Formats: sequence, structure tokens, C-alpha cells
Amino acid sequence: MNVVILAAGKGKRMRSDLPKVLHPIAGKPMLAHVLATARKLAATRICVVYGHGGEQVREALAADDLTWAKQEPQLGTGHAVLQALPHLDPDAPTLVLYGDVPLIRAETLERLLKVSRGGTPALLTVRLPNPHGYGRIVRVGGKVTRIVEEKDADDAERAIDEVNTGILVAPTAALARWLPGLGNSNAQGEYYLTDIVSLAVGEGMAVEAVQPDHVWEVEGVNSKVQLAALERIHQRTIAETLMEQGVTLADPDRIDVRGELSCGRDVFIDVNCVFEGKVTIGDGARILPNCVIHDATVGPKSIIGPFARLRPGTTLGTDVHVGNFVEVKNSSIADHSKANHLSYVGDATVGSRVNIGAGTITCNYDGANKFRTVIEDDAFIGSDTQLVAPVTVGKGATLGAGTTLTQNAPAGELTISRSRQATIQGWVRPLKAPKKP
Ligand code: UD1
Ligand code: MG
Repeated sequence: MNVVILAAGKGKRMRSDLPKVLHPIAGKPMLAHVLATARKLAATRICVVYGHGGEQVREALAADDLTWAKQEPQLGTGHAVLQALPHLDPDAPTLVLYGDVPLIRAETLERLLKVSRGGTPALLTVRLPNPHGYGRIVRVGGKVTRIVEEKDADDAERAIDEVNTGILVAPTAALARWLPGLGNSNAQGEYYLTDIVSLAVGEGMAVEAVQPDHVWEVEGVNSKVQLAALERIHQRTIAETLMEQGVTLADPDRIDVRGELSCGRDVFIDVNCVFEGKVTIGDGARILPNCVIHDATVGPKSIIGPFARLRPGTTLGTDVHVGNFVEVKNSSIADHSKANHLSYVGDATVGSRVNIGAGTITCNYDGANKFRTVIEDDAFIGSDTQLVAPVTVGKGATLGAGTTLTQNAPAGELTISRSRQATIQGWVRPLKAPKKP
């Protein structure tokens, strides 16, 4: 099968320098969602029709399995598909998708493709309580005969509530026959892809229509408001999938997954957590409110947050606690260790049963290069300690509070770097000098 993705529109109403189809849903360009769906359907050729800002789109989504067709000027959807035609396999059917309709599901498209097997063109249509603006599906005796655009429709046609979503499948050889001959004598002076319906019917073909399970699958994005609406719908779908897998969400409307989140059994996620990239959470782990977790692994029974940040390259073992205002980056923390308050753990290897006291900082960066900190099993790091990397804290070592560690701390010993406490007997606080009159 061929897939043509129309993405040439300017997207003026986004009021942005970023081409419309690169605006993200769940952290990924809208067009990337559509491409992922096309790939799920095992499309053999995928052609993206681009126009405005197209070079930026090509760069962002370059892949070996894509071809690109430039449409300049943009003379309508029929003209757009015509530009893709030379890139398509004439013996396979062509599915037309849209770069700004990001949530279309592969399951829905499978149903559309199924009714078109044997060379029947098929449309994805929906009934809308307010069909204004859309092309209407005109049926005679129940059979689809043509599509009429809002601007070309008469009153009776405008009353039709079954609309064209734009998504369709047709035999490619037939498209090659129809598209070059399309006219543009219509209200918009455009070459309408939708005119192929009456051409098919004129040749004695039946045109099938299939409906999606959800209207949001076929909703397009023209503005930031619509983008945000689809983002919430998509996040809700992800949340429901997680719950179906057994994850407990404190509030399915207050989670954001911008990547791939996989959870074990009995995971609990509290409100306002953001997951980015590839995140894995082990059995029985609890993610407390307001955490950001990016490309990280959280071991079983661990407790993260509230207000914790796990950055890329973080691997936490079993029963690890990472508490409030703790940032962990490119570090591993082994079983039963804790960093519960106000710390930065970067480029560190932390053993088991380590206690990292409040305010501990790994000084991993000298302004030019990064260095590692190693904290061996059973070490106790006193509060407000700075570990100036590269440095190692030996097994079972203790660092006194406020230590600035610049050399390795030997195993099993107490290391401190502060001067001894002293009391100045009889010292008095200075008094404010009286104002001169
Ligand atoms: C189109 C359909 C209409 C349908 C509606 C659904 C036609 C003639 N009409 O109308 O029946 O109800 O979509 O949203 O097809 N595009 C190009 N090149 C062009 C023109 C459009 O790539 O020359 C792309 C746009 O980027 C957009 C999509 O095609 O993603 C639809 O174009 P748009 O002008 O928004 O279509 P409508 O007029 O809404
Ligand atoms: Mg238009």
C-alpha cells in the first residue's frame, strides 16, 4: 500500500514560525504521529506532500522509507495528491492521510482498507451535529454519489450531517486516471480531491464509507486551541491504557506522557507528573506529585518525589528513595539507598544502603569537563556535603555534615573537612552606631 500524507498547508492560524505539522502532540511532531501510524499499517511507500517551510519538515523527519513531493503553489487537495503520484506504486492502493490530523488510529484505517480490497474507493466519514465547513457526503438511495464542499453546497446539501474527513483510499491507477483531469471551476478555484468520488461513480464503481470509533481521530489542528484539545484527548487515551494495564493514577487528567512509559504491577502515580523519552517503572514503585522523569529506570518499590527530577541516564535499584527537590542525572543508585532532600546527584555511581543527606551536591563539572563520583555500599553522606569529582567514598565510610570532599574518603572511617567548632567567650554583637544629630 502507498500512503500519501498531505502537509503543504501554511498553518497561518498557528501564528508560529514552526511549520504546522511540526507542532508537537505528546512531545512529538504531529506529522511523526501520522508517519508512525502509516508504518504500523506496513505501508510500502510513504510520500509526504510538503510546501511552506517544507525544508524544515524534511530535515526534522528525514527517514529512508520516505519520499517527499513539493507542492508549490498549493492549488488544492487534488493537486496535492497529483504531486505524489510519480512516487507511488501504481499496482497498490493509495491511502491519503493528513499531517495535521495526528490521532487517526491504525485500527480505524485497517477497517477502511478492508472495505476497499478489490479496488473499491473508500472514504472515512463522520456525522457531526454541526457539519459547517466540511465537505458533505451526498448519497442517493443510500449509496455515496459525490462530495460537495460547504462553499459549493445548496441549502439541502448543507443540511447533510455526514461529512468528509478527507481520509480516503483509492486504487492508484484510478487516481492516475482521474487527478490530471480534475477541474477547478468551483467556489474556491481549487482542484478538489473530493471530486474523484463522482468520477468513480461515473465509471460504475461503488464508493464505500467507513466511520471511525471516535470523532477525535479525524479532528485536524489549525490553531493552538485545537492543538491543546487534541493533546488532552491523547493524554487521556494514554492514561486509560496505563490504568487498563494496572497502573493506579491519582488523576488520569493530570499526567503527561511524552514518550514511552512502561510500568510494572501496582505502580502508583500521583498528580502532575511528566514522563519524557523512555521511562521504565518497576513493580510497586510510587511516583509522588510533581515529578519530571526523562529517559530513566525506576526500580521496584522505589519512591520518587514529590518534586523530584530524574534526568537521562538515571537507573535506580529496588526500594530507592529520591525525595523532594532532588535531581539525579546519568547516575545509578543501587538498592535501598536514599537521597530524600534537596540534592544533586550527577554522573555518580551510588551503591546499596547509602544515605545521601539533605543538600548533598556532586560537583561533577569543572566548567569544561564532567567527572564521576563513586559512593560505595553503606556509606553515609552527611548533610550539605559537596563531593568534588572525581572522588570516591569508600564502603561504609561516613562524611561529616558540611564536608567538601576533594580526595577519596577511606572505607569505614569518618571524614570531615570543617574546622573544629569554637566558642569565643564573652563575644558581644556589634551595636548600631547612634545617628549623629
Ligand atoms: C477538505 C475537504 C473537505 C473535508 C475537509 C476535512 C477537499 C476539497 N475538501 O477541506 O471535504 O471535509 O478537508 O477537514 O479536499 N493541503 C495541501 N495542499 C493543498 C491544499 C490542502 O497539502 O493544496 C492539505 C492541507 O495542509 C490540509 C489538508 O490538505 O492538511 C486539507 O486542506 P484544507 O484546505 O484544510 O481542506 P478543507 O478546505 O478544509
Ligand atoms: Mg481549503
